[in-house]
Amino acid sequence: MSNHVPVMLEEVVAAVAPRAQGRYVDCTFGRGGHLRAVLDRIGPSGRALAIDRDPQAVAAARELARSDPRVSVHHVRFGEVGACVRAAGLAGGVDAVMMDLGVSSPQLDQPDRGFSFLNDGPLDMRMDPGAGASAAEWLASAPEREIERVLREFGEERAARRIARAIVAERRRGAPIASTRRLAAIVAGAARGRGGRTRVHPATRTFQAIRVHVNEELAELERALAAIPELLAPGGRLVVLAFHSLEDRMVKRFMRGDDSACARLRHLPIAGRVRPTGAMTPLMPARRAHQREIAANPRARSAVLRVAERRR
Ligand SMILES: C[S@@+](CC[C@H](N)C(=O)[O-])C[C@H]1O[C@@H](n2cnc3c(N)ncnc32)[C@H](O)[C@@H]1O
Repeated sequence: MSNHVPVMLEEVVAAVAPRAQGRYVDCTFGRGGHLRAVLDRIGPSGRALAIDRDPQAVAAARELARSDPRVSVHHVRFGEVGACVRAAGLAGGVDAVMMDLGVSSPQLDQPDRGFSFLNDGPLDMRMDPGAGASAAEWLASAPEREIERVLREFGEERAARRIARAIVAERRRGAPIASTRRLAAIVAGAARGRGGRTRVHPATRTFQAIRVHVNEELAELERALAAIPELLAPGGRLVVLAFHSLEDRMVKRFMRGDDSACARLRHLPIAGRVRPTGAMTPLMPARRAHQREIAANPRARSAVLRVAERRR
């Protein structure tokens, strides 16, 4: 199984500013790269909650928890972080919440998870394969207009209409679109002639958009952001790495308490709105990974790190 190289590790740990008896929540454990580095810097009476919706990530977290009694593991969506932290008796006392959004390398690299068009596999894309509809199931029944909207809004795909039309035409031919390669070929055919010569595969935006939709990624982020201020201790920090511009915009507006900016998200098909409570103060301008990190780990290229603290 492939490993996950944590992005902007030094910067994230510095932003968390671990202290000996600190209490930390990692909403996106993955393979624990960030959380392990925090655990290395806290004492025996510190505590950490490891959250992930992916059963393989949860298995890795349980493995860690077996040898580290400071860690408790929660197989939930991070939209449920409020209930999780309250049940652990830590509400109002958390020193930092970490979120490293998006997918992990093991998710992308395993063909049977269906996230990548580089390897052929079943068109799944669920971070938790035990919950909700797979990408193939959604594509088998979604109306053309809905597919087009998802591709445009979550993938910023300019050829959204042509791709949605091609998907529905293919579906009408009878065979379900069940594999990643098949979807990639349909998209490449529909998008041909758009965008000129580019190094980016024509299916990149479509795959990203469908993944965001299938996993309700923006709605999840919204629920988590709404819950986090009251979980943090005064001065407690929220440390977020985003890789998608819509997510980063949500985080930025939330941290700044910029209500007017939230109005611009109103057209998005997400339940409710991010309501900036004014409870958070940004601690520094957004940061990006150094060139040398990007050269070693291309995933770091689109990372944006934002940090805010709960008002004291
Ligand atoms: C980029 S990886 C995190 C990697 C981790 N920081 C590390 O260093 O290994 C993102 C992880 O977040 C998880 N994830 C994404 N959205 C989630 C959600 N709404 N609830 C819980 N986990 C989620 C994914 O399953 C994945 O394991």
